[in-house]
Amino acid sequence: MRIHILGSAAGGGFPQWNCNYSNSKGVREGTLRAKARTQSSIAVSSDNQNWVLFNTSPDIRQQLLNFPEIQPARKLRDTGISAIIFVDSQIDHTTGLLMLREGMPLTVYCTEMVYQDLTTGFPIFKMLTHWNGGVNRHSIPIDGQSFTIPTITDLRFTAIALSSKAPPYSPHRDQPHLGDNIGVFIEDLKTQKSAFYAPGLGEIEAHLLPYMQKADCVLVDGTFWREDELIQTGVGTKCAREIGHLPQSGEDGMIAFLDTLQKPRKVLIHINNTNPILIEDSAERAELTAHHIEVAEDGMDIIL
Ligand code: MLT
Ligand code: MG
Repeated sequence: MRIHILGSAAGGGFPQWNCNYSNSKGVREGTLRAKARTQSSIAVSSDNQNWVLFNTSPDIRQQLLNFPEIQPARKLRDTGISAIIFVDSQIDHTTGLLMLREGMPLTVYCTEMVYQDLTTGFPIFKMLTHWNGGVNRHSIPIDGQSFTIPTITDLRFTAIALSSKAPPYSPHRDQPHLGDNIGVFIEDLKTQKSAFYAPGLGEIEAHLLPYMQKADCVLVDGTFWREDELIQTGVGTKCAREIGHLPQSGEDGMIAFLDTLQKPRKVLIHINNTNPILIEDSAERAELTAHHIEVAEDGMDIIL
């Protein structure tokens, strides 16, 4: 299985267009050891030909240009994107679908809750019906049942319902429902390798453990270093867990949890532009390295 990181930043990207906090300002001005990053999305394939896209970010046009292998050019209009899986209905994970309108109908897999959000609060599925009928949508089971995608060879997917948060425009923003957010366990049936992908993970719940212990790679929520990061940096008022993201630091943070996993390669993804781990010579990045935790960057390949 090949996991290609199309975008490794959280909503807003890095640098964020209107932000002058030292991280965004420093990378914009070239004064920090840090790489710019586009918004959260990965492409996964077992054969380097048929790709399943996890999320479609607002930066998708640039991301696809940066990854020429996903354009096989077999006919006049073509793409290597065989299907799209949404892990939630957040703007940074879904807006790119509008940029793919010329390729409708595209095959999209999402939970019932995400389907509700994308037909009500943020009705992009409805809007896209005006482009060749819109998406060809399939439901993702959240009862632990695995599913396969006919055009994707050798990969099997299992959605795991997560405790995180539906977006502000969701009809269930304040009444969490199973399926608002999922993590996905991805297995390559040929190589027997697996990955667990969860860019939005608010809490480590017991039912996730078997997947995370079994996986060869965990690609998980790297949004915030601190619980009060948005407040401390002055850019916001909410705490990390309040918006569905487990911070890395602290006794019950992501680092402490990842330390308990023996097997997997550990990679953080969906990194917010306020996070000090973006700075390659920061103390926080050194701490991650000491714990054998990597930080995803755009263009990175994970081969399992
Ligand atoms: C989140 O996951 O909380 C986001 O990145 C929010 C957003 O895209 O606005
Ligand atoms: Mg996000």
